[in-house]
Amino acid sequence: MNKFKMRRMEPQMNADQKSFIGVHLRASAVSTVTLALMSSHAKPRILTGDTPTGRLHLGHYVGSIENRLAMQDAFDCYFLIANKHAFTTRADKPDEIRQSVIDVATDWLAVGIDPNKSTMCLQSEIPAIDELTFFFAMLIPFNRVMRNPTLAQEIKDKELGDKYPFGFPLYAVGQCADILAFRPQYVPVGEDQLPHLELSREVARRFDQLYCNVNPHTEDADYVKAGGLFPVIEPKLGRVKRLVGTGAPGADGTLLKMSKSLNNAIFLSDDADTVQKKVMTMYTDPKRIRATDPGETDAAKNPLWAFHETFNPDQNWVREQQDLYRQGKVGDVAVKRRLVEVLNALIEPIRTRRKQYESRPDEVIDVLRAGTRRANQIAEGTLMLAKKAMRQGFFDRRLTIE
Ligand code: TRP
Repeated sequence: MNKFKMRRMEPQMNADQKSFIGVHLRASAVSTVTLALMSSHAKPRILTGDTPTGRLHLGHYVGSIENRLAMQDAFDCYFLIANKHAFTTRADKPDEIRQSVIDVATDWLAVGIDPNKSTMCLQSEIPAIDELTFFFAMLIPFNRVMRNPTLAQEIKDKELGDKYPFGFPLYAVGQCADILAFRPQYVPVGEDQLPHLELSREVARRFDQLYCNVNPHTEDADYVKAGGLFPVIEPKLGRVKRLVGTGAPGADGTLLKMSKSLNNAIFLSDDADTVQKKVMTMYTDPKRIRATDPGETDAAKNPLWAFHETFNPDQNWVREQQDLYRQGKVGDVAVKRRLVEVLNALIEPIRTRRKQYESRPDEVIDVLRAGTRRANQIAEGTLMLAKKAMRQGFFDRRLTIE
């Protein structure tokens, strides 16, 4: 893995690392080569993304990263860092968002996203996404956006009340554009993202019906075949819908979701000692005082078993030990020790690769630059076709990332 070579698109970057990616618009035609490439991609395309809120943890891993790794060979993959979305609630923390962009990109490379197979790109340097957002915003009633349960939940969780910025509901429309700019077939996400994906399906249908003469009775899977520009995408859920954190249940008695802000996460970048500490002090069965007391093995109530069921490759061992645990014949400490080994075995190669990239931050930026270039080829092509469909295709243009 450390023989990894990046596809360098240019000899050497002299620009200040901090200046990121410069975009220039030129008034010239999208090349016919680009168009040909766009229409002849052999592999089905997927698009997904992360809002950069910090380092990735085990919940991200089983919720979607694992899925992405498995799809790298058979699919043409686009992975978007949604840095503009981070501004919805943290516009006052630009440095933090910048660092999170680097953290997410570094984590992606560390888990094994291979830039020679997949395209990693940065939302804020793909202007076609914003342009599509404006047009899409005309196709969705405001009330419909506000009925999105993921937005409602976020308002509640982050205690935004009615103090959220205009850009907060707008990001839901923006996410439709993130997706549809790439016209993917599948969108791998965690369960909490399904309402956003449903909105993108509605936008695609509406656009195709209004501007591409697609009959409203068309089956979702047939929209493109029927002449539509935008596909009605299909979500792809991860193996584990919701991984719990290492802490005690919330007020309603259920275990909380693993989340950085709840302080119950094990990060893919945690060192071996930190993993050990987090596991050895994690919440288990509070009624179990001694190893001889019968213990709770329901993964919905005891995170120790949730983690073993999710990550331990030896599920026979897990079932045997659960029997013993229920009978009070094995202690928490032994089961926790085994979990430390299991998690460190998973995280160790990620850690090693992460170290390599941490020492070469300009390489991470170069990967993003090259990916953002490729992403713009697709997104610009989509925008041009969308404008033509909307009868607003007046001029051709070309966009360059420096
Ligand atoms: N909203 C997603 C999250 O917070 C991130 C995201 C942005 C995304 N754009 C996307 C996911 C497009 C899938 C497709 O996790």
